[in-house]
Amino acid sequence: MKKTVPVALGERSYNIHIGKNQTRDLPRYLNAFPSRKAFIIADKKLLTARKQLLSSLKRGGWETCEIAVRAGESLKDFNSIYPIYGQLLTAKADRDSVLFALGGGSIGDAAGFIAATYLRGIHWVGLPTTLLAQVDSAVGGKTGINHKQGKNLIGSFHQPSLVVCDTEFLKTLSLREMISGLGEVIKYGLVFDRPFFASIQKNWQLALNSDPAVLAAFIQKSLQWKARVVARDEFDRKGIREALNFGHTFGHALEAVTGFGHFQHGEAVIWGMRFAVSLSRIHGSLSEKDEKQIQAFLKQIKLRALPVKVQFEEYLQHIAKDKKLRQGKVHFVLLKGIGKSYSDGGITLAELRAAFDSLGEKSS
Ligand SMILES: NC(=O)c1ccc[n+]([C@@H]2O[C@H](COP(=O)([O-])OP(=O)(O)OC[C@H]3O[C@@H](n4cnc5c(N)ncnc54)[C@H](O)[C@@H]3O)[C@@H](O)[C@H]2O)c1
Ligand SMILES: [Zn+2]
Repeated sequence: MKKTVPVALGERSYNIHIGKNQTRDLPRYLNAFPSRKAFIIADKKLLTARKQLLSSLKRGGWETCEIAVRAGESLKDFNSIYPIYGQLLTAKADRDSVLFALGGGSIGDAAGFIAATYLRGIHWVGLPTTLLAQVDSAVGGKTGINHKQGKNLIGSFHQPSLVVCDTEFLKTLSLREMISGLGEVIKYGLVFDRPFFASIQKNWQLALNSDPAVLAAFIQKSLQWKARVVARDEFDRKGIREALNFGHTFGHALEAVTGFGHFQHGEAVIWGMRFAVSLSRIHGSLSEKDEKQIQAFLKQIKLRALPVKVQFEEYLQHIAKDKKLRQGKVHFVLLKGIGKSYSDGGITLAELRAAFDSLGEKSS
């Protein structure tokens, strides 16, 4: 069954359609566009999805031009995207043309950034194909690429005009990719929504087995929360979007100390949430009962182990570099309860160390 989540951003408002085989209905959702010229930046690996998208657009009377690329962080680089602008220019993409992004978060971030900058901005449509992209990165308008000094340092806010989450695409994802997306789903439950967390606890294994109804429900609920937060703080200047960083301070540090790519992003976020939940209890904002319940659940999810050789101090260096360091203090998103988060600027070093130690045995 199809679900729709609206993102309310005034003249930049758009809809997200979620469900099985939604790609087939795409032409209907595209009626309002003035042109019928589609430029598709697609993950070259996704042969079936690419075919489906092309045939759906052609059925809808669209002229198509596909640019197949290799997905991943290496795409989010000036040198990788520069030739794509050339391909668009050669193919005479104009200001009314629509750019489609078919793939995971790396494709969405890069294609969205190209859409933001090509001819000073053209419309783009997100067709996310990973669970992480469907529940998080495809919505919210953050587009961009990396610099060798750090991830996502070059970019722009450029909202898509439409997002379609076809749950059928998720069937070919590996278990680790699914767990990575599940990490972000759990984040929404812990930070905003106790009943949603309860339903995740009940149904997470069905989601990992690609149950379409459970997946659609998880994606819908996650995006309703993301849409609500983005609508209140579109440009991430009011501190409201900060809640979406729950688990990410330690998570990013873990990705950095192990070398990006060792952990999937969402796996690192699950470790980060285990850290933040401990920290919330140690700092005194979360009850022991709630902490136990959350940790017991998170421990059931199979993750790569934390590296044994990396000392707390190394994580700390990255935590201190994190953008949440303000006036010498690290700001952490913590929990007051399941479904209730807040930002705390008064965390001590001893509390951070105790939270780290509570993560238990590390292995190589
Ligand atoms: N813009 C945002 O708000 C935001 C939020 C979170 C993450 N991100 C970004 O998202 C990126 C990570 O996203 P991701 O995990 O989707 O990464 P990704 O695009 O690199 O995809 C991960 C892997 O899955 C493969 N893949 C994609 N769809 C598939 C499918 N249906 N079946 C089988 N394999 C498939 C890809 O080829 C790739 O190998 C990072 O660059 C991160 O910075 C952005
Ligand atoms: Zn994340």
